[in-house]
Amino acid sequence: MDNYIISTKNLTKKYGSKTVVDNLNLSIPNGEIYGLLGPNGAGKSTVILMLLGLTEPSSGNISVLGYKPTKDPLRIKSFTGYLPERVGFYEDMTAAQNLEYTALLNSIPEKEIPSKIDECLSIVGLQKEKNIVVKQFSKGMKQRLGIADVLIKNPQLVIFDEPTEGLDLEVANQILETIFNLNKDKKITFIISSHQLNLVQKICHKVGIMSKGKLIGEGNMAELSKNMFGGNKYLIEVEIIGDVNNVIEKIKSLKGIKTVTSTENAIHIGTDEDLRQDVSKIVTNMDGIILTKMDIKDFSLEDVYLNYFKEV
Ligand SMILES: Nc1ncnc2c1ncn2[C@@H]1O[C@H](COP(=O)(O)OP(=O)(O)OP(=O)(O)O)[C@@H](O)[C@H]1O
Ligand SMILES: [Mg+2]
Repeated sequence: MDNYIISTKNLTKKYGSKTVVDNLNLSIPNGEIYGLLGPNGAGKSTVILMLLGLTEPSSGNISVLGYKPTKDPLRIKSFTGYLPERVGFYEDMTAAQNLEYTALLNSIPEKEIPSKIDECLSIVGLQKEKNIVVKQFSKGMKQRLGIADVLIKNPQLVIFDEPTEGLDLEVANQILETIFNLNKDKKITFIISSHQLNLVQKICHKVGIMSKGKLIGEGNMAELSKNMFGGNKYLIEVEIIGDVNNVIEKIKSLKGIKTVTSTENAIHIGTDEDLRQDVSKIVTNMDGIILTKMDIKDFSLEDVYLNYFKEV
């Protein structure tokens, strides 16, 4: 048996004639934090609903710890915690009462429940709010209570759909830190869906980038960046007035140049060294060419993300 807690093979979901998840092949190792990332409408939530057996695939296969969500949704539910995009609580009940309700629904032995409630509230930093009714909670507090609600059933796998959506940066980071620590301390596998790549990726061992139902990139950030930019460290952007093609030929002959691409009046050069001086010398020595702008940048996560979506 392989070490994947989740695998999908050619997973596809259609609504009418529209394909919203398109031949998705996912392999998520046990014990990892996996980020399912992509812009609004990419199909992330639909994938999650299929993993949980809450909506049926149109075709393809899913295995969640060896079980099929269409056949054994309850089995999967018994070891999986799921925090949907919009967390719902009984607003007139307190934090503790909400957790107690979930614990009872999940057949946690009654005598274990009070200590379990305290433990889960303490993990998410809501001990003091234990007896406050949920309608008085802020969005961030509800999100934290959502995590406690998921933890109370001792899940082996936790799926969070947009856990940091709508939260300010500080609260979002607290949530991510909690997830990071739970993965480390309790060895819980996490799948986190988000369109906030920069925020979420820092705790992910691996991310899959979805766009229009397809997985268009997968790996850790270094791997993604390598696929995207051929592993080059720098991008030098040169803007000129004049014939771009002549300039490109000259630049290509420079030592250390890895990739050269161009648009109408801009040239993008991938390198591992800062070759600005060499490049500018070439350009300024050419007749009929005026150098109007030159920039250099390290590849950032934004670049990886934006480039992926630019190409789709
Ligand atoms: N029940 C449904 N009926 C018809 N179309 C649907 C249904 N659910 C989702 N879709 C469509 O499927 C596509 C993917 O939606 P999904 O909610 O999975 O995206 P997402 O990546 O989770 O987006 P977001 O970041 O906005 O949550 C969208 O175009 C959406 O309109
Ligand atoms: Mg969604």
